[in-house]
Amino acid sequence: MPASNTLSETQEIVQDNLDYTLFSWSKQHGINPIAVQRAEGVYLYDYDGKRYLDFSSGLMNVNIGHGNQRVTDAVVRQMQEVSYVTPSCVTRARGELGKKLAEITPGRLTKTLFTVCGATAIENALKVARLYTGKHKVIARYRAYHGSSYGAMTAGGDPRKLQTDAQQAPGMIHVEDPYCYRCPWNQEMSSCNRECVSHIQRIIEFEGPENIAAILMEGESGSSGCIKYPPDYLKKVRALCDRYGILLIADEVMSGFGRTGKWFACDVHGVVPDMIATAKGITAGYLPMGALIVSDAIARYFDDRVLWTGLTYSAHPVACAAAVEVLKIYEDENLIENAARMGRYLDEQAERLRAEHPCIGDFRNTGLLGVFEIVKNRSTKEPMAPFNAKPDEMTVMNKVAARLKEVGMYTFVRWNYLFVAPPLCITREQIDEGLAMIGDALTIADAYVTE
Ligand SMILES: Cc1ncc(COP(=O)(O)O)c(C=O)c1O
Repeated sequence: MPASNTLSETQEIVQDNLDYTLFSWSKQHGINPIAVQRAEGVYLYDYDGKRYLDFSSGLMNVNIGHGNQRVTDAVVRQMQEVSYVTPSCVTRARGELGKKLAEITPGRLTKTLFTVCGATAIENALKVARLYTGKHKVIARYRAYHGSSYGAMTAGGDPRKLQTDAQQAPGMIHVEDPYCYRCPWNQEMSSCNRECVSHIQRIIEFEGPENIAAILMEGESGSSGCIKYPPDYLKKVRALCDRYGILLIADEVMSGFGRTGKWFACDVHGVVPDMIATAKGITAGYLPMGALIVSDAIARYFDDRVLWTGLTYSAHPVACAAAVEVLKIYEDENLIENAARMGRYLDEQAERLRAEHPCIGDFRNTGLLGVFEIVKNRSTKEPMAPFNAKPDEMTVMNKVAARLKEVGMYTFVRWNYLFVAPPLCITREQIDEGLAMIGDALTIADAYVTE
């Protein structure tokens, strides 16, 4: 096709999208989306044939990489048999998927309620925790995102929620994060007394353990800034839960399915939660799906009691078939081992980049869930854009993001965070390619460093 035709085709596609569809988390004017025609492995291609290295696996969900035909084939096979059954009917794919999840999750997490996304997994985790314990309050972290539906959004501390409902759903209590780079208690990880844990203990006592159904924690922090937990943090939170009779819910929506170099991030921390709420990597984004996997004890509680919840698309056969195949792909292609190996390589190379770019304040990564934190000054740690930055405070970071796009990278830039979470099939050469692009873009931020 001649270049001029291709260009006008792209413009037409973009224009239809801008004229007839709404974009989340954005003003509708001034949006400049990439019109993606196809995708393969770690690359996206637009209608003009420009290639983008996908350094955030879409929204940290396309863990197996793009365009894997095994998933397409599994989906087609399922659709040829049956595309939809109600959640009260069963299919081979649903049972097979439930069995596999029981196998790969830690401890005795044995039964799964299938949902349609991460937020619906979280909403159902909150319901199940309340039904099972008869208690109402839930403790969660301020710097956490759990989804954009009412309960999940309130459970998170992401300030985007304040725009739509300053009142929020009742019963959610928030605690400070173990944000070691900017410790709220001005401590160093090597010498602190885990004030982040005693803080939670005090909140439990103030709120009354007899009222607290659950503590909700991301298995590993994601879009709030990959705020890595100190190594013993989740274990200590688990111990608090056991001591006070509180359930531990791990939100593994982003951190699950190999993202951290293990099946689940709670495996990294050696912790068995009472429930795992997950989504994203379960189908690697090929179809929407979420899951709430509960302990044997919770599952048995509902043997003779009604599970008061439901979704039209719970255990959708086609999504289940996609997930069954995706889980096989993780194993057949050794993707989780590769994530751990490439994560170590990324850590080394990011350290090298840090030596070259004074704007890099911190790099935090687990497996392939990482972030560069960009600062104006390494000594004061003044961020290049503040928490909850307003548009006029994003000038420098917007320039960095624009440069990344120009040089052919798709990734997630938020406030002063630049995320690195490529598909788990990435190679060393592709990591080098991505870090070279990031290095190029960060020279823009270096010019604003004040030390
Ligand atoms: C940790 C975490 N929990 C929950 C969600 C919500 O998932 P969804 O957008 O599928 O509702 C997300 C989405 O990014 C997430 O990162």
